[in-house]
Amino acid sequence: MTNWQELESKYYMQTIVRIPVTLVKGKGVRVWDDKGKEYLDFVGGLAVDCLGHCHPVVVNALMEQARTLMQTSNWYYTVPQIRLAELLVQNSCMDRVFICNSGLEANEGAIKLARRYGHLKLNGAYEVITTMGSFHGRSLASTAASGQPKMHAPYIPLPVGFINVANNDTDAIKSATTDKTCAVMLEPIQGEGGVNVPDTDYLKKVREWCDRKGILLILDEVQTGIGRLGTLFGYELYDIEPDIMTLAKGLGSGIPIGALLAKERATVFVSGDHNSTFGGNPVTSAAAYATLKYIIDNDIPSNAKKVGQYLINGLEKLKNKFGFVTEVRGRGLLVAMEFNSDIAEKALTACLERGLLVNQVKPNALRFIPPLIIGNKEVDEALGILDKALSSINK
Ligand SMILES: Cc1ncc(COP(=O)(O)O)c(C=O)c1O
Repeated sequence: MTNWQELESKYYMQTIVRIPVTLVKGKGVRVWDDKGKEYLDFVGGLAVDCLGHCHPVVVNALMEQARTLMQTSNWYYTVPQIRLAELLVQNSCMDRVFICNSGLEANEGAIKLARRYGHLKLNGAYEVITTMGSFHGRSLASTAASGQPKMHAPYIPLPVGFINVANNDTDAIKSATTDKTCAVMLEPIQGEGGVNVPDTDYLKKVREWCDRKGILLILDEVQTGIGRLGTLFGYELYDIEPDIMTLAKGLGSGIPIGALLAKERATVFVSGDHNSTFGGNPVTSAAAYATLKYIIDNDIPSNAKKVGQYLINGLEKLKNKFGFVTEVRGRGLLVAMEFNSDIAEKALTACLERGLLVNQVKPNALRFIPPLIIGNKEVDEALGILDKALSSINK
């Protein structure tokens, strides 16, 4: 039997600390490794596989489009791209869409758009205020935007124009705002930073501040968008509307795609300002259209809300049972469990051995980001495994 992990260590750049499992197959909310072992997947491609693995709606859209037209240049009009843009606009508070290939690309586009806005409408303002603990991607600009000093250190000097301030603190944003500020950029709930849920009125207060100063509010909904929080977009949960929004992850349920969306008044790009060879390619656009249509038609966000609450309730019971669990937090199916010490890796391994995939979001916290189509039955199964796993490391 081929040792894939040995080959990886020989040929692949060693930039990722991997979990020692080689996954070869997925169906619904389950995946299998190369030894035939089955796992219940509460990682879901890292909050991507919102319809589960290999959902027929996505697979059929991909296959049909692959047989018809795969790639043209964006110099030409293509139907799946336009249909996807229309569906996004019809179901969000946004007016315009640009399709790209990933979350970081969507955020690069958002930052470029905000800078163009600053050049044209705010006397050349170019600074973007972001928050500590945020994660916006791994390009140089999105690294600088991410409020994580450990990500910055290896790449100094980073692009200028990013001010990282305390999270969940409107006053910190106010103090950092100057006549150089063109935008504030936030995740509705910080995902990679540890599932950090802000105060209920935080986003509303930030929105009011941006309006007062005439600057843009960018919401990075790469992780929170497409139903993850129990609403189609995270901004709905906080009853505000951003000027610019970015999407990726769940948009294609496993297909690499991202999107930059903006209100008409913020869409200051003109011809030649932005483009991408693969962005909005017919195949990825067709898969994303099929995914989004299914999510809307079947009200998948409601399922995420209902099952997410069931998951949180179950995790709370485990918190009461195990004294070393300090907090359960999240919304919809973006949920974390925090411990009083750095035992998340141990807990992850104990779950893995028992056939459950979970994510270690911090040394002392696990994250649960399963497909949005899961039901209470799968949650019960996951909770049962987690209970046994936590008991095993409690000894
Ligand atoms: C909120 C947020 N923004 C941006 C990104 C970067 O997305 P990508 O990895 O597709 O570039 C991520 C990825 O985890 C994310 O969670």
